[in-house]
Amino acid sequence: MGQSVWKSVDDLIAEKLVPPDPVLESILAANADAGLPAIDVSPAQGKLLHLLARMIGAKRVLEIGTLGGYSTVWLARALPTEGKVMTLELDPQHAEVARSNFEAAGLADRIELREGPALKSLEALGAEKAEPFDLVFIDADKPNNLNYLRWAMRLSRPGSVIICDNVIRDGAVLDARGRDPNVEGARAALSFMAEEPRLDATAIQTVGVKGYDGFAIALVTQ
Ligand code: SAH
Ligand code: DHB
Ligand code: MG
Repeated sequence: MGQSVWKSVDDLIAEKLVPPDPVLESILAANADAGLPAIDVSPAQGKLLHLLARMIGAKRVLEIGTLGGYSTVWLARALPTEGKVMTLELDPQHAEVARSNFEAAGLADRIELREGPALKSLEALGAEKAEPFDLVFIDADKPNNLNYLRWAMRLSRPGSVIICDNVIRDGAVLDARGRDPNVEGARAALSFMAEEPRLDATAIQTVGVKGYDGFAIALVTQ
């Protein structure tokens, strides 16, 4: 058992539970045409983000790391029409592709993309005294996970949910001595969630079309 079974089962899950969706498929096609790396969440994971947002009745979502906006669109579609996703992206080309995808999806009015280093955009959001976000999805440069989690705490409220992608990394998260900054970022995210008294958290290992990885999910409790 390994990657090929995981992929086949993920395909089965998608076939049964994630109906074909021309908009989402065209986003992945546009991303591939533009040469973006295929590191978006999987269809089943996108639907998980979407369902979690609906389950908590999210109206304001913060996403750190847009890429071509595949996860952004899953999240935006979970919101009421007056809802908003704020998504942060460093790479101007990724941002351009994402904006065009949001237009094509008819969701441009529900999504605000801020281009530049996420830490700068987060500082700006803090200075603007932005209303708290109901859900924060952290999926950008992993070495900054700890900084992003600190900002997520400042920009959320009791009851908000914080999700951090890629915290398992083929099991490399076990390696306490390694120097891979991505793995250090994964470990830092789990440690922060463990130690922050205002968070209650777990992590779920995932296998599927994207290989072996996982999400950490936290509830802001106070
Ligand atoms: N959430 C997307 C995938 C994001 S991939 C999806 O599932 O569809 C990670 C993205 O984070 C890349 O587009 C990368 O350019 C962006 N990124 C990397 N460093 C960043 C930074 N410092 N600030 C903002 N975005 C960053
Ligand atoms: C990879 C996957 C991701 O979900 C991500 O955010 C960054 C990188 C990867 O598989 O390399
Ligand atoms: Mg990711």
